[in-house]
Amino acid sequence: MTVRERRRFRRDPVAYIENLRRRSTTGLIRLPGGGWCVSDADLAQSLLRSPEYHTDRSGFFGELLPTRGAQIDVGHAVRDVLRDGVPHYRAALTTAVAGLPAAGRWPAAGTRLVHHCLEDLLLHPGTPATTRRLMRRAALGGVALRAPHVWQRSRAEVLRARLLAAVTVEIAHRREGFAGEPRDVLDALLGACPPGERGDRAVAELYLMMFRAILAPLSVSLAWSLLLGCLHHTAPAPWPWPVDRVVREALRHRPMAWMLGRVLPHAVEFGGVAFQPGDLLSVSPYLLHHDARLWSDPHAFRPDRWAGTGVHGPYIPFGAGPFVCAGAAVAHTLVTEALDALSRGARLTVTGGDTRPAMAEGNVPRPFTLHRLAQPPGPPAGHEKGRR
Ligand code: HEM
Repeated sequence: MTVRERRRFRRDPVAYIENLRRRSTTGLIRLPGGGWCVSDADLAQSLLRSPEYHTDRSGFFGELLPTRGAQIDVGHAVRDVLRDGVPHYRAALTTAVAGLPAAGRWPAAGTRLVHHCLEDLLLHPGTPATTRRLMRRAALGGVALRAPHVWQRSRAEVLRARLLAAVTVEIAHRREGFAGEPRDVLDALLGACPPGERGDRAVAELYLMMFRAILAPLSVSLAWSLLLGCLHHTAPAPWPWPVDRVVREALRHRPMAWMLGRVLPHAVEFGGVAFQPGDLLSVSPYLLHHDARLWSDPHAFRPDRWAGTGVHGPYIPFGAGPFVCAGAAVAHTLVTEALDALSRGARLTVTGGDTRPAMAEGNVPRPFTLHRLAQPPGPPAGHEKGRR
């Protein structure tokens, strides 16, 4: 990528990728940083869904787990513990939102809120207070969501190393005695990784990876939902849409995942180009969600496009196919619950909002201020959560 291209990309990543798509005539985009992006919707769906391209492990876990079976077990175990914890999370939200200041800087405030409400599910309250405190500092100090400045990232590395050491000690302790129902994500991982198969340090690495995989997209998706909802409804009245639809539309309009990559297990011709085993092909959720041939008015933020069961284009904020996000359903619930708690009985407005994403391991909103003004109780029109 040239300096000029990098500057353009940083200024507006989505305009940049749209421009590359416009210039491609084959349904394939050569990415300036290397690799290819499949922009044709049919080819992209085939790449994500066909078992042919999913014969090995998913790249999501890197080398942390030895088999695809182990990856699936871990994903399901973590999903289950979060799903069982939804009532606890909902109760924590009610208290936390009641104590929020009238104005807050997002998306940092979202990471703080989501972490606070998930804290007991990430490390249950019986965990040593020092380890829980460290987890809190790590969540807010750039370990969950990559910090923008280099100095912040170096500080996050130190916090990460300290949390890794503390979680490794906690794992050794839990392995000595506990064998009941999982109380938190760490128990869930220990249940899915028997001691003979994975060492304490390896499970701690996996824990930190899941810690980020849970917190970052939840807080970013919540921040996008608030920002887009507020920017598109400025009237002094409650939102006219069920919050469930706002979340769905925000994840369409600004999906956090920038590219979903698949390493080809064998040689294949795709869109007229011959690829070799080991080549990386990617799909951009943003491009698929904004394909004008498949979506009506794709650049408009319209939560009511999700009313009823109308036909729409490919919707892949959680990926698709064999490697789809293991936590998709519970993640949608957690974001919706948080948005509901924030918007219920309050008028929300933003200042400093910008719909151009910043790039930090995905599409992340640029900082904005959210103002919450409590409103007298009444039955607001858009306030069912909606059903999945
Ligand atoms: C709004 C929040 C979330 C978003 C937007 C999101 C998005 C994604 C995406 C795009 C992928 C890659 C899918 C692919 O390559 O096709 C993924 C994978 C994954 N996600 Fe999520 N995720 C979210 C929350 C969660 C949560 C709460 C969990 C906890 C269980 C979770 C667990 C996973 C796992 C385990 C994978 C790897 C799946 C596999 O390769 O087997 N995610 N997620």
